Amino acid sequence: MKEKHLSEKFYQAMKQKESRYPDRKALILPALHQAQAEYGWLPKEVLAEIAEYIGVHEAQIREVASFYTMYNLKPVGKMHLKLCTNVACCLRGADELMEYAEKKLGVKCGETTPDGAFTLSEEECLGACTTAPVMMANDDYVENLDINSLNHFIEKVKHER
Ligand code: FES
Repeated sequence: MKEKHLSEKFYQAMKQKESRYPDRKALILPALHQAQAEYGWLPKEVLAEIAEYIGVHEAQIREVASFYTMYNLKPVGKMHLKLCTNVACCLRGADELMEYAEKKLGVKCGETTPDGAFTLSEEECLGACTTAPVMMANDDYVENLDINSLNHFIEKVKHER
């Protein structure tokens, strides 16, 4: 028997959703969300188990998970900063913010700090262009960023640890 990676909680949560998604393939996104909420990222074994649960080939799950930037295919830090680098945010200084964040955290975009506290990555348009530049800090939006507010935010997170 194959080793299970996903928890009972995962299967219970999915059971509640099954009736809303008569086509089981439509369960892929909710399953990825649920698994990531538990794991923080989506290891290969978890993707394989999701494929088995839904009844599709593993490659289909990997395709979906790698298409959306919201899914983490490698471990991320406790605080995942996703800076939008799309047009509106760039016009309002996103590149400078990214440069600043890289210096401040001592990592390049796409990397995690050695202590596992922060991951820094870039994101496509977050749909909040009117308050650009914007980043997501885990699941929260941080808007109207500038160097000062970004610095303040990072310091605040560091002190809350
Ligand atoms: S371009 Fe950054 S939120 Fe739209």
